[in-house]
Amino acid sequence: MCLGVPVTDDPAPPDTGRPEEIVAIGWDDAAGAVRLLDQTLLPGQTRTRVVRSTAELVRAIAELAVRGAPALGVAGALGVVLALDEAAREGWGDTRRDAAIDAVRDARPTAVNLAWGVDQVRPLIGQGSDAVLAAARALATADTAANRELSRRAADWLLERIDRPRLRALTHCNAGALATSGWGTALGVLRELHERGRLELVYTDETRPLLQGARLTAYELAAMGIPHVVQVDSAAASTILRGLVDFAVVGADRIAANGDTANKVGTLGVALACDAAGIPLVVAAPWSTVDLTTEDGSGIVIEKRASEEVVTWAGERTAPPGTAGFNPAFDVTPARWVSAVATERGLVEPARGTTPRDLSGT
Ligand code: MRU
Repeated sequence: MCLGVPVTDDPAPPDTGRPEEIVAIGWDDAAGAVRLLDQTLLPGQTRTRVVRSTAELVRAIAELAVRGAPALGVAGALGVVLALDEAAREGWGDTRRDAAIDAVRDARPTAVNLAWGVDQVRPLIGQGSDAVLAAARALATADTAANRELSRRAADWLLERIDRPRLRALTHCNAGALATSGWGTALGVLRELHERGRLELVYTDETRPLLQGARLTAYELAAMGIPHVVQVDSAAASTILRGLVDFAVVGADRIAANGDTANKVGTLGVALACDAAGIPLVVAAPWSTVDLTTEDGSGIVIEKRASEEVVTWAGERTAPPGTAGFNPAFDVTPARWVSAVATERGLVEPARGTTPRDLSGT
């Protein structure tokens, strides 16, 4: 799907040193710029967007050229590098530089990782751009390692509870390598099960209105050779209640201290259906997505996106002129319907009363 984004100068994927892996975001030393795999164009076109300024980065985040909570964390950290370089280039003072950093930090409100990424590297500003870049790169490396660890933990938990040779899964939105620094969270769990020979089939919700499931998750599952089908979001409850899946696994944009979880709108419906069917809903996320300063889901700001995303299709209006779209990008699943939150620090079972808060000292 093309969202009207100007396509870049450069069709090559980011140089990651790991050509076998999809990499959503990185720093290009030669260009002195951020390189994004432009997710507005996938799966039809694999194009890189070269981002040279904080204003361009804010636009790329708002347009979802880079998206997914952990990838946004890296974008936030690299945004600070861009701001420092821009300040040096343009002769900005500290006030202008800090405003540019804040604009990146606030580009989307729900995924806590974006602000987290900025805040992790901001204290290093006094040490210069190279020090900030090194810290941003370290965040990305740590994110991939976290995703691998949480995937192992979630897979172990599922296999201890579900007595089938190969499991059937449902996922919503995209929480794969495209949404992270690498490996993925919810998709990382599926990848882990697949590598253990324990995954039968993945039902992928298409994820209206921007189709992250149909466009991005299916793209990743296909690349990994994982058997999958795409279904309309409104099929999910029936698929679950008909007994076609053994569990659902999703990523998260923000997990409150009590386990309430914000994720792509539609996740709550999946959770309710899982509860009714008596199957687990697993939330897979790195610790950077846990926000212990937010006590519960009532404190999570839900991004409202443009009406047009809902009332148009492929550039054509679907609803009558004058009808507005209601477009919350996320919803909050209360902890009582979250069977497990798997992080690299450990796994808790909010529906049974253990919460992310319990992992804070680990
Ligand atoms: O609007 P998006 O595409 O950024 O929403 C992404 C999601 O909701 C993901 O499930 C979440 O960020 C976790 S990504 C590992």
